[in-house]
Amino acid sequence: MKTLHFLVSILALASCVAFAYDPSPLQDFCVAIKDPKDGVFVNGKFCKDPILVNAEDFFKHVEPGNASNPLGSQVTPVTVDQLFGLNTLGISLARIDFAPKGLNPPHIHPRGTEFLIVVEGTLYVGFVTSNQDNNRLFSKVLNKGDVFVFPIGLIHFQLNVGYGNAVAIAGLSSQNPGVITIANALFKSNPPISDEVLTKAFQVDKSIIDYLQKQSWYDNN
Ligand SMILES: *[C@@H]1O[C@H](CO)[C@@H](O)[C@H](O)[C@H]1NC(C)=O
Repeated sequence: MKTLHFLVSILALASCVAFAYDPSPLQDFCVAIKDPKDGVFVNGKFCKDPILVNAEDFFKHVEPGNASNPLGSQVTPVTVDQLFGLNTLGISLARIDFAPKGLNPPHIHPRGTEFLIVVEGTLYVGFVTSNQDNNRLFSKVLNKGDVFVFPIGLIHFQLNVGYGNAVAIAGLSSQNPGVITIANALFKSNPPISDEVLTKAFQVDKSIIDYLQKQSWYDNN
């Protein structure tokens, strides 16, 4: 009986861990739908009835993003929210356009490892490891054709250090990797995080925190 209990606990724990990530697909595809009344199976999001699925459910045209903004970069995501055929399949993609000196600012994908390939221009990229690893910075200058990996959950960034525009394509290991831009999350939260928290966290005066909280913090996603 004790052994059985133990086994059940281990299994419960294992399934919790598994469910923290995209589930493995249970069928060839499971095209997401907006209105559950047209749905048949549940695996992640509701699935469209396979009889009604066609090639368009797996197709998307991606236009270049407009990087004329305060960051000089624009992310165009292709996740399950844009391409319903990705439902349950555990991957997504993003196109990132950079103006000269454009920055994709430090951010995290809570549910996805990212694989980036530069298709035009030159990018300075990097990620920072966790506290246990002493917050080491791994960085690199990437040229056309170079690829770089940003492990799941780690803070990373990309800066255009070339003379012209730059373009990169990112693959992500989740249909819904999520994005948390560090500065925006801390200084543009709704409602704002109290000054006491931010002044202590950053070891600066309240006036600096107030200044930071007044900035517009453009969201390039
Ligand atoms: C890009 O955005 C800028 C600023 O919002 C705007 O002035 C410009 O017309 C846009 N360009 C295109 C091609 O949409």
